[in-house]
Amino acid sequence: MATTTLSFLFLFFFLLLSTPHTTHSTHIHRINQACKATRFPLQCQTTLISHSLHLPFNPTPLHIINSSISLSSRNLKIANSMLDSILQAFAGDHGRIAIAKGCLQVFQYSHHRTSLTVEALSRGRIKDARAFMSAALAYQYNCWSGLKYANDTELVFKTMSFLDSLTIISSNALSMIVSYDLFGNDTDLWRPPRTERDGFWEDSGSGVFGPGPSLPANLMQDVTVCKETGGGCYGTVQEAVDAAPDNVDVGGGKFVIHIKEGVYEERVRVPLRKKNVVFLGDGIGKTVITGSASVGLTVGMTTYNSATVGVAGDGFMAKDLTFENTAEGWLPWSGDVGLNTLYYGEFDNSGPGSNLTKRVSWSSQVPAEHVSTYSVQGFIQGDDWVHRSSY
Ligand SMILES: *[C@@H]1O[C@H](CO)[C@@H](O)[C@H](O)[C@H]1NC(C)=O
Ligand SMILES: *[C@@H]1O[C@H](CO)[C@@H](O)[C@H](O)[C@H]1NC(C)=O
Ligand SMILES: *[C@@H]1O[C@H](CO)[C@@H](O)[C@H](O)[C@H]1NC(C)=O
Ligand SMILES: *[C@@H]1O[C@H](CO)[C@@H](O)[C@H](O)[C@H]1NC(C)=O
Repeated sequence: MATTTLSFLFLFFFLLLSTPHTTHSTHIHRINQACKATRFPLQCQTTLISHSLHLPFNPTPLHIINSSISLSSRNLKIANSMLDSILQAFAGDHGRIAIAKGCLQVFQYSHHRTSLTVEALSRGRIKDARAFMSAALAYQYNCWSGLKYANDTELVFKTMSFLDSLTIISSNALSMIVSYDLFGNDTDLWRPPRTERDGFWEDSGSGVFGPGPSLPANLMQDVTVCKETGGGCYGTVQEAVDAAPDNVDVGGGKFVIHIKEGVYEERVRVPLRKKNVVFLGDGIGKTVITGSASVGLTVGMTTYNSATVGVAGDGFMAKDLTFENTAEGWLPWSGDVGLNTLYYGEFDNSGPGSNLTKRVSWSSQVPAEHVSTYSVQGFIQGDDWVHRSSY
């Protein structure tokens, strides 16, 4: 806090002593224009203005976005040290230690994605930047939602408040990247993000909901997972993932895991260091990875951790198998957090659970004409990377 105030004062002195009033107002005006794109414009303005020694006097939209990402990055480091303190303060308290360690892990992921955001922006890859910053924010929020189960000491409470401000800064950076993607450098056009809730769908490019880019042909399997014993294969999917080499691009750029027909009851994690992992099953409904973790039923569980298959590493692909979470109900996250902005959509579901009569009021059916927004091409730009051999 002290540094913030100091740099703010310093900025004022500097401006008063050495620059004409017009430059100062241009500077502030540009920040305010860009902040129009955010959900939290006031916080956006105050944080950016107090940080603006890092900005040139005539900042471009990219300068302002860069500055907001660097603020997020700086505060993530501070949050990290606060989590270190929690880890020390609660040594021996297994529940809290697990939550704190979970936070430190996702912070590492968040840090990685934040750096990639800056790099993607500098190369003009705005869609990538959006995906990376969105991941960075989701990881930060994941820590918050785990920590709220341990929120009964001053130290945790302070950390949670700090995380509140961090996620606001990261959300603002993301919103500005979104406006930059949609409207370019003309900040007059920038506006707060809209979602499907507001009837807004991203342009999906082709407008076609087809099969999308297919997996590269002739993938050679590196390892096999099966249910038979003594078959020379791994018994769990996780063991096979653990066998993938770390941080390297393997032969042909992929590490291919053939998962034979069967039901695998486990929670699988592909960590950040395992890249280009491919799961090939024996068919939808034949190879099934299943779990039942749920935030509603397990104290300390977070949405991110409840996923049956969770992937943090780049270049992951999967084909011909089913991922299942049999727990599958929808609960409010925390009070009314997000209920007015999130979009829980479903399309053409069948089977048990597809009956709509008992849906929560804030879930929606995706209109058929917008379903291509969620295609591999439209949603994750598959055409750009599915056939690239490595990362
Ligand atoms: C944003 O920051 C990155 C790295 O810090 C730098 O390479 C890039 O030139 C910056 N872009 C702008 C527009 O300031
Ligand atoms: C954490 O605890 C403090 C103090 O009791 C409370 O004011 C705050 O709302 C709590 N935060 C959450 C997210 O539960
Ligand atoms: C915005 O302007 C910068 C130059 O200031 C340019 O490099 C960049 O490509 C422009 N961005 C878009 C999306 O047109
Ligand atoms: C959905 O559930 C309701 C109430 O349980 C039932 O009356 C209705 O027939 C069901 N619809 C279908 C298509 O199964």
